[in-house]
Amino acid sequence: LRENEEFTKVNNIATIELGRYEIETWYFSHFPPEYNDCVKLYFCEFCLNFMKRKEQLQRHMRKCDLKHPPGDEKYQCSTLSMFEVDGKKNRVYGQNLCYLEKLFLDHKTLYYDVELFLFYVWCECDDRGCHMVGYFSNEKHSEESYNLACILTLPPYQRKGYGKFLIAFSYELSKKEGKVGTPERPLSDLGLLSYRGYWTRVLLDILKEHRGNISIKELSDMTAIKAEDILATLQSLELIQYRKGQHVI
Ligand code: ACO
Ligand code: ZN
Repeated sequence: LRENEEFTKVNNIATIELGRYEIETWYFSHFPPEYNDCVKLYFCEFCLNFMKRKEQLQRHMRKCDLKHPPGDEKYQCSTLSMFEVDGKKNRVYGQNLCYLEKLFLDHKTLYYDVELFLFYVWCECDDRGCHMVGYFSNEKHSEESYNLACILTLPPYQRKGYGKFLIAFSYELSKKEGKVGTPERPLSDLGLLSYRGYWTRVLLDILKEHRGNISIKELSDMTAIKAEDILATLQSLELIQYRKGQHVI
């Protein structure tokens, strides 16, 4: 935006159509200028290209030959599938995902260089194809040990445990790499709630079974959760004390 243009003058997209849902948006997302006069956008649920009119989408759907996200299937469990999409090979898809995510997230600059990211797209599959329910992005080489940049569950699919699954998946990737991981900051309220829930469950499961001494470092090695996040979680649960210069669980 140029200095003399104001954000508030630009109408935001109020609803989107995606697959079989019409979804009300939550926040402002900065779409390309030619969409400034739109209050509703029509997304192709497979390639995530967006259009101004229903007829354009219908025409697109007759041509679009994708039936799942443009990447490799990495994990499958009954009718659910995880696809890994490389932002370098699928730049437009990655960008579309960022536009979409921003509609449900009020902070963060999401228009990053998508080439540097992998996108893990979680789908419910049926005979019509694999329908995206959520995703997270993962920086290929993070210097800050981030294992997740952004996470989204589409509103019609929220509160079904998919967020928790995506978070768990990001830690499994870290374990495979033999690294610890942490989500990129800042976290949204719902993001923090989901992470606190995940960290609490994972740590309490271990502490419940464990006999004898255990250090935060050991917990971190077992879970791939970064030491700072373990400390913060245990502190919020009032399970930790600071004695003689040491944290004691
Ligand atoms: N109100 C209260 N609690 C909620 C709500 C809600 N609206 N939504 C989820 N929760 C709780 C659940 O009860 C659950 O709690 P528990 O761990 O105690 O059982 C926890 O949050 C996770 O619930 P899930 O069903 O696993 O998560 P969901 O699929 O709904 O996705 C997510 C969570 C991804 C944060 C979703 O709310 C979302 O996409 N929000 C918009 C985008 C966003 O804020 N992303 C996070 C930004 S931070 C970052 O990207 C690093
Ligand atoms: Zn398409």
